[in-house]
Amino acid sequence: MTHPTLPIRIAPSILAADFSRLGQEVSDVVEAGADWVHLDVMDGHFVPNISFGPDVIKSLRKYTTAFFDCHLMIAPADPYIEAFAKAGCDGITVHAEAGAHLHRSLQTIRALGKKVGVTLNPATPVSVLENVIDDVDLILVMSVNPGFGGQKFIPAMLDKIRAVKSLVGDRPIEIEVDGGITADTIGAATAAGANVFVAGSAVYKGDGIDAYRANVSALRQAAETARL
Ligand code: DX5
Ligand code: ZN
Repeated sequence: MTHPTLPIRIAPSILAADFSRLGQEVSDVVEAGADWVHLDVMDGHFVPNISFGPDVIKSLRKYTTAFFDCHLMIAPADPYIEAFAKAGCDGITVHAEAGAHLHRSLQTIRALGKKVGVTLNPATPVSVLENVIDDVDLILVMSVNPGFGGQKFIPAMLDKIRAVKSLVGDRPIEIEVDGGITADTIGAATAAGANVFVAGSAVYKGDGIDAYRANVSALRQAAETARL
């Protein structure tokens, strides 16, 4: 079997957008060339920050048809998964650390007909994925400790991306990386095996579509170059 090469996808995190005009910020970033929209949900318990919930996501749904990539930084996650599915998320990613029954969480997402994602904090070993690898569509490697945008990429996560890549093998699983992604760090993450790149501050800097377009294309170009 040949190795599937999944496309490079740029997934701006709206955590870095202007929350007073989120709908416009979502449609602008898609117009500017973003592939996915990354939605960072925080509960002030699993992570030390609070962001937004399913009602906000539902209200954003009418601004774009782009893939809504929902990153749940909440514990427990299970009681809320259905609400995020109904709000219009296309993929739902849960933290392996967020509950005792990861397999059940993944099955819950699958049963709702959504793309199934699992993510690992920087300190969590890749081995927790070994027994659920055939139950996921996406693996998200956190390259910062979750909770805030604008942090520095943790270089040790490059080895982790390589380990995930090797575990994934020929499976068509998206390998996503989140935290500190800029035009300077995206190349190394691509070379290590990631194909989906979350970027908050590196995309939502400057003002409006033209700035976002330049930011998205700088990221994409650096990733594509690293693939050559
Ligand atoms: C961190 C979030 C990230 C964050 C990325 O908890 O999961 O998605 O918004 O922000 P930057 O790209 O600024 O590091
Ligand atoms: Zn995220």
